[in-house]
Amino acid sequence: MCGIVAYIGPKEAYPILIKGLKRLEYRGYDSAGVALLDGSLRVLKKEGKVSILEEYSTSQDTSGTVGIGHTRWATHGVPCDKNAHPHLSQSGNIAIIHNGIIENYNSLKKELEQLGYSFHSDTDTEVLVNLIEDIQKEDKLSMEEAVRVALNEVIGAYAIVVIDKREPDKLVAARKGSPLVIGIGKDEFFVASDASPIIEYTKNVVYLNDEEIAVLNRNGDLEIKTLGNIQKSPYVQKLEMDLEKIERGGYEHFMLKEIYEQPQVILDCMRGRMNAEKGWIKLGGITEYLPRINNAKRIIITACGTSWHSGLIAEYLIEELARVPVEVEYASEFRYRNPIVTEKDVVIAISQSGETADTLSAIQIAKDRQALIYGICNVIGSSIARASHAGSYTHAGPEIGVASTKAFTAQVTILTLLALQLAQAKGTISQSRLRQILYELEQIPSKVAEALKTNDKVKEIAAKYKDAHNFLYLGRGLSFPIALEGALKLKEISYIHAEGYPAAEMKHGPIALIDENMPVVFIATNMSAYEKIVSNIQEVKARKGKVIAIVNSGDSQIKALADEVIELPETDELLSPLVSIVPLQLLSYHIALMRGCNVDQPRNLAKSVTVE
Ligand code: AGP
Ligand code: GLU
Repeated sequence: MCGIVAYIGPKEAYPILIKGLKRLEYRGYDSAGVALLDGSLRVLKKEGKVSILEEYSTSQDTSGTVGIGHTRWATHGVPCDKNAHPHLSQSGNIAIIHNGIIENYNSLKKELEQLGYSFHSDTDTEVLVNLIEDIQKEDKLSMEEAVRVALNEVIGAYAIVVIDKREPDKLVAARKGSPLVIGIGKDEFFVASDASPIIEYTKNVVYLNDEEIAVLNRNGDLEIKTLGNIQKSPYVQKLEMDLEKIERGGYEHFMLKEIYEQPQVILDCMRGRMNAEKGWIKLGGITEYLPRINNAKRIIITACGTSWHSGLIAEYLIEELARVPVEVEYASEFRYRNPIVTEKDVVIAISQSGETADTLSAIQIAKDRQALIYGICNVIGSSIARASHAGSYTHAGPEIGVASTKAFTAQVTILTLLALQLAQAKGTISQSRLRQILYELEQIPSKVAEALKTNDKVKEIAAKYKDAHNFLYLGRGLSFPIALEGALKLKEISYIHAEGYPAAEMKHGPIALIDENMPVVFIATNMSAYEKIVSNIQEVKARKGKVIAIVNSGDSQIKALADEVIELPETDELLSPLVSIVPLQLLSYHIALMRGCNVDQPRNLAKSVTVE
């Protein structure tokens, strides 16, 4: 977690850093800070959002043409001024910003304390900056050498940028496990956790690899070497992102913008990958591995959070269409439980950010056991994308709202195509059924656009139920993962306790919760489970629960029973999750807004979770 930004060049650094931090704020917003070098090394930092730092800085000296900035998601030490980054070394000569966790910070701290170092924060980061200082002092090394030697002693994950007041013409950056991009401008360099702070200055970037250190010199020299001291030549790439895509474009929140982008996103995701008329599907990026994927004895899907929910949908789809056994695993569990994985398995890792530490580690375990890794990521060039053998990008564009919306529907689109492609290759689907689903898939963007028209209705419902303390979301079959995702959205941004359950499981426990104060959201758009869902609704009504039902348009039976009804255009049951999630995203959005919550940056969360 955490957003990192740094600058060296002819311009004033502070405005670039502040603007960059605002773009990176989705990664963490517990505190923000900058360090500026202009003869003296000054640190300005404040608990809370970047805007608080900005306000505070108006009365401070912000001059300097080299600087580093950080927006924090606390792992070690509560959010407060003293734990905010940048952290200074004991002498005050070196300043560091860090994203990640130094796992052996405690033993390093003890050693440093014995050497006379004292600490002013509770962070692991302050240990690292003092370790660098100590190594530099003892071994009389340059800053980059001291950083390299120190990082060889560190266990954990990091992206760091370091400046030293005695070497004002350079920035040193390094990474392992947390992302870092270097922007190359004219006589200037930028460093950031993602490309969003860089894009308006330059499109030429270098993605730093794990265990690499970059030295960015004011004279325009860029050196990259490994932790093992091997020189590397920088591989410069052109950014494809454009500025417009990372701005709100007239919407009040990124989340709302991203919800509304879904028809286009689904279309972009399908583009060039299928043709209904000709009955073909082609997911580029896996062609080389097709025989292995087609012959997999088992598919294991691993992911976290919302991406895990799209994995659950894929389980239904792949087993139904291609008849291959699928297991869906939380990456955080998979990696710690000695799983049985062989070279006959295909492991699909799903991740919007492509940086989730648990998912990355799960991939590593599966790779060590010779499985083929198929990554489905949104962020191009991300760590998971690079760690995978084969992959498909979701092409949803930057997702800034912390609650994932468009990335989810894009993932489900790709996974639907995958299930169909597999089914076609294995001969488990007839060509006519395949075409039928593909034709229907082509209609999905317009059906999602229709679903967005429920916004006003959803808003009315939100106003009625916004003060509830608990919500239950129920669905059967493909609607069960949607129930989970709907509940997660509500929890994340409105802080209302919500649970997603398979509707039939309700009677095995959650039914005890139902009374007149409990809103129960039923996702009832998959027709094969319709009668059963009707019975579940009756069970809730019999206990005075309030039923909010998501149904297909024209429904009459549920309409007669439910307190609230949201009607959606009907589609093929297998594609129903792509449409039915939309009103649930909107419901959580409106409830959160009405409760005065920060929709785009909910408390305690961050967009990419690069810690374990
Ligand atoms: C989604 O709304 C969440 N913020 C979170 O659960 C997220 O899906 C999870 O952390 C996984 O992230 P990833 O897709 O970037 O790997
Ligand atoms: N471990 C550091 C801290 O707590 C950085 C946190 C992070 O990257 O999430 O300040």
